[in-house]
Amino acid sequence: MNSVSTATLPLSSGGVIPQVGLGVWQSGRGATTRTAVLTALRAGYRHIDTARIYGNEADVGAAVQESEVPREEIFVATKLWNDDQGFDEAQRAFDASLRRLGLDYVDLYLIHWPVAGKRLDSWRALERIKASGRARAIGVSNFLVPHLEELLAAANEPPAVDQIEMHPFLQQRETRAFCAKTAIVVEAYSPLTHGRKIDDPVIAAVAARAGRSPAQVLLRWGVQKGVVVLPKSTNEGRIIENADVFGFTLDGAAMSALDALDEGLATGWDPRTQA
Ligand SMILES: NC(=O)c1ccc[n+]([C@@H]2O[C@H](COP(=O)([O-])OP(=O)(O)OC[C@H]3O[C@@H](n4cnc5c(N)ncnc54)[C@H](OP(=O)(O)O)[C@@H]3O)[C@@H](O)[C@H]2O)c1
Repeated sequence: MNSVSTATLPLSSGGVIPQVGLGVWQSGRGATTRTAVLTALRAGYRHIDTARIYGNEADVGAAVQESEVPREEIFVATKLWNDDQGFDEAQRAFDASLRRLGLDYVDLYLIHWPVAGKRLDSWRALERIKASGRARAIGVSNFLVPHLEELLAAANEPPAVDQIEMHPFLQQRETRAFCAKTAIVVEAYSPLTHGRKIDDPVIAAVAARAGRSPAQVLLRWGVQKGVVVLPKSTNEGRIIENADVFGFTLDGAAMSALDALDEGLATGWDPRTQA
């Protein structure tokens, strides 16, 4: 049986990505993030998702180094912020991220947002960074089908992943279908709806039938859809709870009930507005 430590998805560029990752947006700086990452690694997580704009790359890096898990067993992802987009700027921003992390390489470097007029230059920079070996894989975030089509037409190397908001209330069917066709792994951010729908009555009913928590149901739905899920928590009990999503299966009736919840709910920023 799979576990949070062993469940992975293959990347088109080679290697694998662990299917559950700890998100650290709004986890703060300093001890809170360091403790959350150490707790997650102890609980079996092998994937940490940070970004330059989260302000805690240094804390993530410190926890990775402090943990007893070998570096090569941990998948570390960070992201290029919007103000740093452009060919030269992106390379400088990557160097700065790597310095803050205190690592020799990251496992995944993502363009955080499809900034118009800059994103293709940024992508050329990411291709160069990957060629240098300092990012094992490169990808994008908040790219919808038109952004991906434009990128694939221009790129030498396709993105290995697209990180988008995804949960039963925002199912991203079109983007997922496109990514399935083009071998791009989808990563679901805000898989717990940023906390907005954790008390939804349909989720509660499915959770009661499965004997699981609402958060576990939301994450399991994503796992069964074949995507990576990136739950954020700084609470030890919830970090452990969110990892425990491989010991049960949602049956057809449960998946249908969840599939019926799509309402296009973007809890954060919405790339449908980005030309
Ligand atoms: N690429 C992007 O543009 C982008 C955008 C947004 C997010 N992300 C990534 O996705 C990650 C997760 O997204 P998110 O932070 O927006 O939201 P989320 O993971 O959907 O939800 C986090 C919220 O749920 C709470 N929570 C966690 N586990 C819970 C549980 N078992 N039961 C009840 N509540 C629980 C957390 O509080 P506690 O901490 O108190 O447990 C927090 O308030 C981010 O950290 C980041 O890595 C990426």
